Amino acid sequence: MSSIESRVAAVTGGAGGIGEATVQRLRQDGWQVAVLDLDPDNAKRVAERHGALACPIDIGDAASIEAAAAFVERELGPCSALAAVAAHLENPHAPERQDMDEWDDILRVNLTGTFRTLTAFGRGMKERRSGAIVTVGSITAFNSSPLQAYGPTKAAILNMTRNFAVAWGRSGIRVNCVCPGPTRTPAVEASYARGERNPETMIRQTALGTLVRPMDVANAISFLLSDQAAAITGIDLPVDSGTLATQLWSLYGGVPGPE
Ligand SMILES: NC(=O)c1ccc[n+]([C@@H]2O[C@H](COP(=O)([O-])OP(=O)(O)OC[C@H]3O[C@@H](n4cnc5c(N)ncnc54)[C@H](O)[C@@H]3O)[C@@H](O)[C@H]2O)c1
Repeated sequence: MSSIESRVAAVTGGAGGIGEATVQRLRQDGWQVAVLDLDPDNAKRVAERHGALACPIDIGDAASIEAAAAFVERELGPCSALAAVAAHLENPHAPERQDMDEWDDILRVNLTGTFRTLTAFGRGMKERRSGAIVTVGSITAFNSSPLQAYGPTKAAILNMTRNFAVAWGRSGIRVNCVCPGPTRTPAVEASYARGERNPETMIRQTALGTLVRPMDVANAISFLLSDQAAAITGIDLPVDSGTLATQLWSLYGGVPGPE
């Protein structure tokens, strides 16, 4: 049993691939869970599947975030865990082909939206001097990629996570980031099926020879939200089947196969 007094957790992007796995895992851990998502129908379906409560949210809109935070506290009680999973994803392209409306949207959702989500849901945690937050970055935060707007927002989320961890550490709140590598969510599977991305080229870049499963990311989020991580704050944890570790191996003929 957690020493965190309230067992209410909120998951933004809870209707998505990693979000749903997080909802499922937190329910297994015994949390009451609010599934918060831009897509209200999918949020409802996910909530029904896992015995959680759905609430619409647009993290690109300050009033919507405030309304969702108030809804969670009113309907479920004091919220002491937040998984800030929601993001606007992006397809690869050259910088000169950047659609600047999409740039604005990605920054508004991923950067400003994550900041506002943390401040809105963290307010009650600060008052109660107890809570844990996990943000979701990406391995694109650590290196160059053709995700021209998305990558910089994910790098910023790492920096933001450390800022909150230090600002709120003495208020009893831990703030950490998980950084998934290529994860086989239903949306990613669909883009493989459409031929937009190739799983084989991604698998070649992993140490383990497998892509990440949504539940692998959810397990890391669950750990960081739990008391088992009581002394951990301000970290970024790659969950990437060793993709970051392989980067220089392409200079030496690539990742070796099994012996
Ligand atoms: N799948 C991967 O390979 C991968 C890799 C690295 C990082 N990530 C990160 O993991 C997180 C989850 O991604 P996923 O792969 O599950 O994607 P997904 O598309 O399956 O889920 C994203 C969810 O966020 C919701 N959402 C989008 N905009 C929103 C908004 N403005 N307000 C509220 N909800 C909004 C969507 O409706 C969707 O349900 C994201 O932060 C993503 O950047 C994913």
